Amino acid sequence: MLILGINMFHADASAAIVQDGEVVFAIAEERLNRVKHYAGFPALAVKACLDAVGARIADVDHVAVGQDSDANLAKKVQYAMANPAKILNFIRLRQRKQAMRDVRSLLAKALDVDVTVPRFQEHHIEHHIAHIASAYYCSPWEKAAGFSYDGSGDFVSTMMARCEGNDIEVLERVFLPHSLGSFYTMICEFIGYKKYGDEGKVMGLAPYGKETYCDQIREIVDLRKGGFQLDLDYFMPLGSNQGMQIQADGTVRLARHFSDRMGKFFGTPREPHAEITQRDMDLSYAMQHRFEEVFFHLLNQLHQRVPLEDLAMAGGCALNSVANGKLFSQTPFRKTWIQPAAGDEGLAIGAALHAYHSTLGQPRRYQMKNSYLGPEFSESRIETDLKTAGLSYRKLEREALLEAVAEQIAAGNVVGWFQGRMEWGPRALGNRSIVAHPGLPDMKDVLNARIKHREWFRPFAPSILVEHQHEYFEHDHPSPFMLHVYKIRPEKREQLCAVNHVDNTGRLQTVSREENPLYYDLIRAFQRKTGIPVILNTSFNENEPIVCTPEEGIDCFQRTKMDVIAIGPFLARKSEN
Ligand SMILES: [Fe+2]
Repeated sequence: MLILGINMFHADASAAIVQDGEVVFAIAEERLNRVKHYAGFPALAVKACLDAVGARIADVDHVAVGQDSDANLAKKVQYAMANPAKILNFIRLRQRKQAMRDVRSLLAKALDVDVTVPRFQEHHIEHHIAHIASAYYCSPWEKAAGFSYDGSGDFVSTMMARCEGNDIEVLERVFLPHSLGSFYTMICEFIGYKKYGDEGKVMGLAPYGKETYCDQIREIVDLRKGGFQLDLDYFMPLGSNQGMQIQADGTVRLARHFSDRMGKFFGTPREPHAEITQRDMDLSYAMQHRFEEVFFHLLNQLHQRVPLEDLAMAGGCALNSVANGKLFSQTPFRKTWIQPAAGDEGLAIGAALHAYHSTLGQPRRYQMKNSYLGPEFSESRIETDLKTAGLSYRKLEREALLEAVAEQIAAGNVVGWFQGRMEWGPRALGNRSIVAHPGLPDMKDVLNARIKHREWFRPFAPSILVEHQHEYFEHDHPSPFMLHVYKIRPEKREQLCAVNHVDNTGRLQTVSREENPLYYDLIRAFQRKTGIPVILNTSFNENEPIVCTPEEGIDCFQRTKMDVIAIGPFLARKSEN
């Protein structure tokens, strides 16, 4: 049975293909059309999914979309009636969403076939149910607490659920305009981070701040039984799209979230390129602090309803790895399974698996053991691309390649590491990564000056052999998808100085041989040379979506000041050219 999952006309449009219950291939459209967070129809991703299983659209039995415009309709109408100025907007949005429901025509057009060709059955899964499904149905568990939170989706910002067997039973919804994602976005915008997806950057700024504004910021989000409520005086009236506008070219633009009340309390909003002041750092500290308090409150409430140790979680806010790292000490949950594509691209997988297990009642056998669900490229294709780019290169056997790359990293060089299938989700996890020495004091500045050009306050991440985690970090719950931040042990901070953040934490990726044998062995080779079972891992890109194809990897290598690229079995150095 073939199920195509889709997230469309929503940020991070994507597609996934599920064959007999197993996720075989999944990709966000941005990786193919190179438009970051693309929010149109994922035509290229759908084609890539079909190609991956050698199928045509006529072979697809079911199509599942992670959006249901009929979900929570009564709440939407109630909101529109209470805000007469929004009624026209509400009607327009609803008409647009109705048009989008014609999935058959959209797919036929994208794939250039007659509309009578597809024979699939269509399913629409509510946004947050699809998020929870993307975690629970990929986890190894037969029952778990399910949690999803983000800016908004189908008029909901937060969902709690009891997951058992094939079923996801919704226990609680927090409806718009109350949204923890919007709260975070609002303050990010106020301190000058106005682009969709900037929230992850500001998380790195928070530890530079002090508690100055904690009490004031706390007042913006009020804790309630089963949820929370925003003080809407701090927000512009954002309507049911929660301040997110999709442009004609598929890019996402944020409307202004903060009201003038913010300015009354905290002064002038920062412009994007202005200097970051202590005020901005203190606001980001208070924002992260309140976010965590509300998050732990919600999880503790969920645990009262579902008293288990296992938590399956997704939604854009689940990318807040700092909060994730602390939940073990602040809530009774002891294990997490967080979807690596916790943002909205993950809806494609969640919708498809929900259709398979919940709607169609098919048994659960699948577990997502790694995030390498994207395309891979043949040796001959890579070699052709290297020749086309005019690079001189050497082809090496596996051991020789690992040895040579480990040698380069140990010598302080920056290596582009392009191997196997591309990662699914926003993190590079050792297949489209730039890797470097984690223990050289100037490595962060070198990477920023030569390649990444990121904000000075953003940390780089460590990949660590999972069996050494407890020696280096103060928590031993694994983090295979780089979704937890833990304290680095005092005696190891100097050894990991390039990945040790200002608050002595690291957003680690734990690596096991089972998950990624080649990357595991690369870290082992580096450990043999240096005694450190850790390498610095940052995504293979330069202010663009993470590279997907060999051409993009080679182009990024040539554009930036990387020293070496290891692409498939080939090794090329800048100095040789
Ligand atoms: Fe979402």
